[in-house]
Amino acid sequence: MDEYIHDDDSYRRVQALLLEEMERGLGKETVAEATVKMFPTYVRSLPDGSERGNFLALDLGGTNFRVLLISLKGEKVNMQNKIYPISQELMAGAGEKLFDHIAGCISNFMMDHQLVGVGRIPLGFTFSFPCRQEGLAVGRLVRWTKGFHCQGVEGEDVVRLLHEAIRRRSDIDVECVALLNDTVGCLMSCAFLDHSTEVGVILGTGTNACYMERLNRVGTWDGDHGQPDQVIINTEWGAFGDNGCIDFVFTDVDRAIDHDSLNPGKQLFEKMISGMYLGEVVRRVLIKCINAGLILSGQVTEELDTPSRFYTKYLSEIEKTIARIMTAATCSTSALWSAREPLILPLPVSIATLLNRIDKPSVTVAVDGSLYRFHPHFHNLMTQKTQELLNPGLKFHLMLSEDGSGKGAALVAAVSNRIAAAAEA
Ligand code: GLC
Repeated sequence: MDEYIHDDDSYRRVQALLLEEMERGLGKETVAEATVKMFPTYVRSLPDGSERGNFLALDLGGTNFRVLLISLKGEKVNMQNKIYPISQELMAGAGEKLFDHIAGCISNFMMDHQLVGVGRIPLGFTFSFPCRQEGLAVGRLVRWTKGFHCQGVEGEDVVRLLHEAIRRRSDIDVECVALLNDTVGCLMSCAFLDHSTEVGVILGTGTNACYMERLNRVGTWDGDHGQPDQVIINTEWGAFGDNGCIDFVFTDVDRAIDHDSLNPGKQLFEKMISGMYLGEVVRRVLIKCINAGLILSGQVTEELDTPSRFYTKYLSEIEKTIARIMTAATCSTSALWSAREPLILPLPVSIATLLNRIDKPSVTVAVDGSLYRFHPHFHNLMTQKTQELLNPGLKFHLMLSEDGSGKGAALVAAVSNRIAAAAEA
């Protein structure tokens, strides 16, 4: 079973490779063949607490699809939201159907909240898939991830598709003023409260990160070079390894999961760690342990033998039960951490790579996602391991982002309003 445990040298090698891949993604000449795409997001300013107004937000690409109404009044944020299911059929059908459904949900939500007929409402669209942005409200989907594969959307501007669907109904007056990745929403919602926030990380159905980068290090930037001379970069690190550069850390389990997935050869780093795949990683490792006679006397049950039957949420549930027993027996649970390290380690490795690149003495890292939020030990493990991998003199802390995909969308829209108003004044 040793192949599942990597030594520190392997992780340092992975760190160096990720940095190399990130630099290729930022280079004008190298981006075409880069796997870590490092998309400039056109978000260049963080909230300063003076943001105001009512905004609608859409959150597509995580555990649930939601429509939200957010009212910003300085430090006070009011939010209402409703979850709308997205069926497997919609996830795999025609893109037009998906966007018609989304527009239908917006209309339903606006009726419920008496928002129809009150004038045009600005909307922030958190669309958590890799998009090459051409402006704050223009972004082409590069490819679907996380089980979506609707036809007719890849290569298209998703804001245009949304606006067309809204126009097809003609009962609502909404304008999408900002398109953002969930990592950006996560960063913005923490930056609102803590101005040293420079990184946003999602560990949920998928995994990804964004961070604030200096413009002079972004070779692919084709926007203006005025102040502030920075831009948030959506790394899309889930695709790290798609060119084979970290094959040496992949196990037969990683390879089998990729082989049986909807998008073989793609999002390989994401498949090692994120919520959509982690249950399956554990299920397959358990079967190997049983077959090797290490646990449960060689008995693989039919349930355990069924693909995708071991849900990722079981990991958190098992951990919580163990913690309860250990606490009742007054034992320290940290003694068991080493057993979980191989599962979680890819994340500290990549967070440390970003923090070393940012190279500031103290940075806040905003984190969200179902896997991080519900697992009782991920926070502590990630903090400890990331710190070990940082360059000397650097410190950070992880901050849980409260509803970044909703609040962050409103904040991106509000910050752009504030800047536009200042420019006109
Ligand atoms: C996938 C998407 C990425 C998103 C992440 C977390 O990796 O490609 O855009 O941020 O999942 O939801």
